[in-house]
Amino acid sequence: MTYTLPFNVDYKPHLGKKIDYGIAFCGTGGIVRYAHIPAYKKAGFNIVGCYDLNVENAQKVAAEHGIPRVYATLEELLADPAVEIVDIAVPPWEQLKVVEKVAASGKHMLCQKPLADNFANAVKVVELGKKAGVKQAINHQMRWDSGIRASKHLIEDGIIGTPTDAQIQVSCLTPWHMWPWLAAVPRLEILFHSIHYLDSLRYLFGDPEWVTSRHARYVNQAPVQGETKTVTVMDYASGLQVLCSVNHYNEWAEPFATFRFIGTEGAIDGTIGLMYNYPAGQPDTIQITSKQFGKGVKITPTLEEYWIPDAFVGTMASLMEAIENDHMPTDNSTEDNLNTLRVVYGAYLSAAENRSVRPSEVK
Ligand SMILES: NC(=O)c1ccc[n+]([C@@H]2O[C@H](COP(=O)([O-])OP(=O)(O)OC[C@H]3O[C@@H](n4cnc5c(N)ncnc54)[C@H](O)[C@@H]3O)[C@@H](O)[C@H]2O)c1
Repeated sequence: MTYTLPFNVDYKPHLGKKIDYGIAFCGTGGIVRYAHIPAYKKAGFNIVGCYDLNVENAQKVAAEHGIPRVYATLEELLADPAVEIVDIAVPPWEQLKVVEKVAASGKHMLCQKPLADNFANAVKVVELGKKAGVKQAINHQMRWDSGIRASKHLIEDGIIGTPTDAQIQVSCLTPWHMWPWLAAVPRLEILFHSIHYLDSLRYLFGDPEWVTSRHARYVNQAPVQGETKTVTVMDYASGLQVLCSVNHYNEWAEPFATFRFIGTEGAIDGTIGLMYNYPAGQPDTIQITSKQFGKGVKITPTLEEYWIPDAFVGTMASLMEAIENDHMPTDNSTEDNLNTLRVVYGAYLSAAENRSVRPSEVK
């Protein structure tokens, strides 16, 4: 495709015809409060109820956000015919047992990332969804973050030619206190944070041949236990080299969160707005250079939307579109997500054994 100037980049989520599917939350913690609910309200989705192990928490969230019904148990939620989609937002070690019940009820579901805290249970989650014949999507909403979405369309349209180098580099001070339950996990940065970047890089460039990863901790990171600084390299058969480098304890330097995708005919440079001020964030930025525009011409379209909440519309809209048209979610099926998890768990294997790993080694 040839672009003519000026042009607008297509990056906003596309909604299907039917967006009034009844949604009920299983888990009403932080991410549901500050991301899912604002996103769904903005998009005009139909939230019908919620359930949380901590009933008081569910009641409080329902009262604050005008959610009509609070269920006393998951069984009660699943028995409600108004619920067509269960939006699961519980810690990863809880997700499999929730999915077992949701699949048995025949309802569709949006699962949280990571699908599980080990690869075998993630496979079980996917198998349960397939066996039940329900639509099962994963909430990897960075695929709908404006800078990534715009890059996806631009790369597919050939604006940078053949991709040769890709980098996501983040150096910031992450407010880990927002997730007290993460303090004790032995695997932190890649499994809970860089998983977004690795998934987005797969979305843009496909599956790598090799994963090489190095992990470290910061001197003053207590009580946080897991790795907080990581460097991961992915090598592709085409010669494409991908770097994902993340430091969550930059206490002094200016924070930065950048992406750069370079090809034989152009480049896309951008910033990930969310990571400058989590969770408020700011819109992403993007700068495009291409043979199509001539050397030295830089195109800087304005991206208006925020990762939180706007990208959260995309994951749910994709699930709804899959239900409406009876196919697997195009951009966020849980089955595809197993390949992201092969990279994630491959990164841990690489760091533990000081070697490069093929994602297919993860079983
Ligand atoms: N997609 C993203 O960008 C994103 C961002 C943050 C968190 N997350 C994921 O969302 C999930 C929740 O994170 P959070 O920050 O909201 O955590 P949180 O601790 O604030 O909330 C989790 C809630 O789940 C409830 N819960 C636990 N087990 C349950 C069960 N079996 N049934 C019903 N409720 C249960 C808890 O009582 C709690 O209210 C995690 O899996 C996390 O990895 C995803």
